[in-house]
Amino acid sequence: MHLEGNKVIDEDRQGEAVMAEVPVISNGKKMYLESYGCAMNFSDSEIVASIMVGMGYETTKVIEEASVIFLNTCSIRDNAELRIWARLREIKKNKKRNDEFIVGVLGCMAERLKDQLMEKEKLVDIVVGPDSYRDLPNLLATAESGQKAVNVLLSREDTYAEISPVRLGSNGINGFISITRGCDNMCSFCVVPFTRGRERSRDPESIVNEARQMFEAGYREVTLLGQNVDSYLFWGGGQKKDLDPEVVKLAMDHKLPEAEQKGFTTFADLMERVAQVNKDLRIRFSTSNPRDMTDAVLYVIAKYDNICKYVHLPVQSGNSRVLDKMNRGYTREQYMDRIEAIRRILPGAGLSTDIITGFCSETEEEHQETLSLMEWSQFDYAYMFKYSERPGTLASRKYPDDIDEAVKSRRLSEIIELQSRLSHESNKKDIGKKSIVLVENFSKRSKDHMSGRNSENKVVIIPRNNHQPGDYVEVTIVDCTPATLIGE
Ligand code: 5AD
Ligand code: SF4
Repeated sequence: MHLEGNKVIDEDRQGEAVMAEVPVISNGKKMYLESYGCAMNFSDSEIVASIMVGMGYETTKVIEEASVIFLNTCSIRDNAELRIWARLREIKKNKKRNDEFIVGVLGCMAERLKDQLMEKEKLVDIVVGPDSYRDLPNLLATAESGQKAVNVLLSREDTYAEISPVRLGSNGINGFISITRGCDNMCSFCVVPFTRGRERSRDPESIVNEARQMFEAGYREVTLLGQNVDSYLFWGGGQKKDLDPEVVKLAMDHKLPEAEQKGFTTFADLMERVAQVNKDLRIRFSTSNPRDMTDAVLYVIAKYDNICKYVHLPVQSGNSRVLDKMNRGYTREQYMDRIEAIRRILPGAGLSTDIITGFCSETEEEHQETLSLMEWSQFDYAYMFKYSERPGTLASRKYPDDIDEAVKSRRLSEIIELQSRLSHESNKKDIGKKSIVLVENFSKRSKDHMSGRNSENKVVIIPRNNHQPGDYVEVTIVDCTPATLIGE
């Protein structure tokens, strides 16, 4: 899964059915929901579940039981969309057997492909974009009366701030809290600004309250989610977009005079407030953006033991010309400066990235620069992709997708091979070190072992003993594989 690396969860995490939740007043109907794509989508599904439970629906993991079937979809790469089309056809086949149920497409594909979804092969009854979930009661009523129902309006305001998510498929230990919606960055390859609209920051009060409620319900780790968390800004009941850009800059750098600073909440301030909820609640965040990540944020991470020492900082390319074409807003050197700041302020922190290979006109030398920057940065982990042209983006309008598929594949293999070596080397360096692991689950391989993660976001396998999910355990790393640490 990714929240854009999103990016925590990539589209490779196949649709997961949700846990059964019982509504206060049942309408006797059940909803089945599969989520694809980034962490933001999984988090949105919890908003959808909350609205549906409010309408009297129960959620079910068994698709045959459901009278409403939702797919919360992703558009980030072409193969993400192809997978959804295939799944819709499969569902349609079943639909012939029982005509009672409604099929809805939610999320990014709904936004991008509303017309095709409604018309092509008559696969879908409802299409709902990421900002229209409040309209689900109306849309369902329309669909139940036999008409097609669509709402893909994007909002400049709504953050679903006061909707209390129904936690789906959760282990009750780790959960997501969305802090911003949308994205204003306009990277030339990316479809997100088109599918999720303008950036909005959620009221910090509602974020802190949600974190507190989760801690009280037994959660021990929250991940603050946004397409670009560093860009978060909220002030006295207002939003960044309403402010003079000069004031925004001063506020983000904490350079407004004391009195005026009051009332502004930057991402650094927000993290500090969430960290103060309880020292036993771990904080993670995703995704950081090299162009906006300030030292102030890094100092807050350093200051609180319960803010995890881990940064996911997508680089996309190691070459400044390609970065410029991608409209990323930083050069290779500026990216290196941010890595140096992380290493200086947070020594030993975990570091991961996203890389796109084979972007329009990328040369062999430029590809080599990506490899050399990976080696220099010593990433612990990377999400690596071939460039996939997305209709409507700046790149699709301005630059030909001119790198051969075979060349893209070969470059991707080289990147993956290098990252496997870097990940393994990084794990080997941890042998002999001590770390605190938050236990999350039984190990997939053995019931005698538990699995959890350390602050640096590495998976650590430990002997079961009497440990329970939610326990913090002090561990010495005694061995490793390329992907996991073994602790005692
Ligand atoms: N093609 C390939 N990868 C993409 N990403 C975003 N858009 C595209 C695209 N058009 C990758 C980026 C981003 C991650 C979530 O997905 O690396 O950080
Ligand atoms: Fe998430 Fe939508 Fe982007 Fe996919 S396209 S990664 S679902 S924001």
